[in-house]
Amino acid sequence: MSSMNVNETSNDDIEQWRREWMLPTDVTFLNHGSFGPSPYQVHRTRKAWMDKLERQPMDFLIRQFEGHLDGSLEQLAKFVGTKSHNLIWVDNATFAMNIVAASVKLEPGDEVLLTDHEYGAVQRIWRHVCDKTGAKLVTAKMPALLDSTDEMIDSLFAGVTEKTKLIVVSHVTSPTAVIFPVQEICRRAKKLGIRVCVDGPHALAMLPVNLSEIGCDYYCVSCHKWLSAPFGTGFLYVHSKWQNELVSPIVSWGKSLGGNPPSWKDEFQWMGTRDPSAFLTVPTAIEFLEEFGLDRFRDHGHALVQFTREELLKLSTNAPLTTDSPTWYSTMVSIPLPDSVQPTSKPGLLHPLQQKLWDDYKIEVLVTTFRDRVYLRVSAYIYNTQEQMEYLVNAVKTCVGAGG
Ligand SMILES: Cc1ncc(COP(=O)(O)O)c(C=O)c1O
Repeated sequence: MSSMNVNETSNDDIEQWRREWMLPTDVTFLNHGSFGPSPYQVHRTRKAWMDKLERQPMDFLIRQFEGHLDGSLEQLAKFVGTKSHNLIWVDNATFAMNIVAASVKLEPGDEVLLTDHEYGAVQRIWRHVCDKTGAKLVTAKMPALLDSTDEMIDSLFAGVTEKTKLIVVSHVTSPTAVIFPVQEICRRAKKLGIRVCVDGPHALAMLPVNLSEIGCDYYCVSCHKWLSAPFGTGFLYVHSKWQNELVSPIVSWGKSLGGNPPSWKDEFQWMGTRDPSAFLTVPTAIEFLEEFGLDRFRDHGHALVQFTREELLKLSTNAPLTTDSPTWYSTMVSIPLPDSVQPTSKPGLLHPLQQKLWDDYKIEVLVTTFRDRVYLRVSAYIYNTQEQMEYLVNAVKTCVGAGG
């Protein structure tokens, strides 16, 4: 097996950083992309905020809450290249996407365009809205091999008609782990007067995200994936053009409880009493990654999944989804498995290979299906090592009967 192209001197140091996570040492956790656990530093900050809330909840929730929430949003806004005025805190990307779906006015005959790489729950949200409004859901099929940005964008825009009202596209796709050229998509959509909603939970931290440069209308995020912020943190970016038409799924006071001037965010800030400690901790997660080094985190993860991709592609002649380039994948990659590994016929259950990798090897990794082919989606984070990737490769080889 060839050796990974990672800076050797950084490995001892990585070992130190690994200790920041409470992951059990006998578990090989290669699915930060589904659920990204937080480092201890983030837990400690959250606990400190919870203590403040518990110590004097009246003071905290009535006098301090809005100022603290705005303060943490300011830091997040800097990290994603926009003004905090354009962002609201939500629990997760699903919540954010539901707000967009409730807010975009669709008439019978209008069209919503998705790619065929979108996350299942996102497809379901838009199917639901289209069924309710009489709009049509159109799915654009992307090229079998993604090696040209222009070709990818042309395939998407082949699905556009004069009825297209909205394009929904992932920044980094879920089943296929592909980076989509969202900035170019937004530029082209803008010329046609079509709004773009970017589904971005994997992109935050995995890629540099600059919302002013991307130029989308909406951007939906979970911070509990690659940013390693506490579970239950996400945000929604809304372009200033659409902020006043945003509809909240929850009706509460609809005004600042601290007496601040009215704002489009009023419906979203106070959704009844909640524990805000997770949102207030997001800046610590940003600082943690910045301390490690964002480029270093991305290079480390990319090198690990690139190695794994190269090794597992040797198991069959099945073609990869993209060319081997950081243009198309970053710290997560989906690798086609041999055809002997069949899609599961029991929806709702884990794929038998995923179950076996857990039962026999204590490996957490995603086995997923795309266009009737089974893929292994591997995520690599700061705490993952070359040895873990070799362990995975050997385990997969054994499981699919290719020796070990
Ligand atoms: C592309 C994509 N969109 C949306 C979601 C939903 O994220 P959450 O469960 O945090 O709301 C996911 C989750 O994996 C995803 O991969």
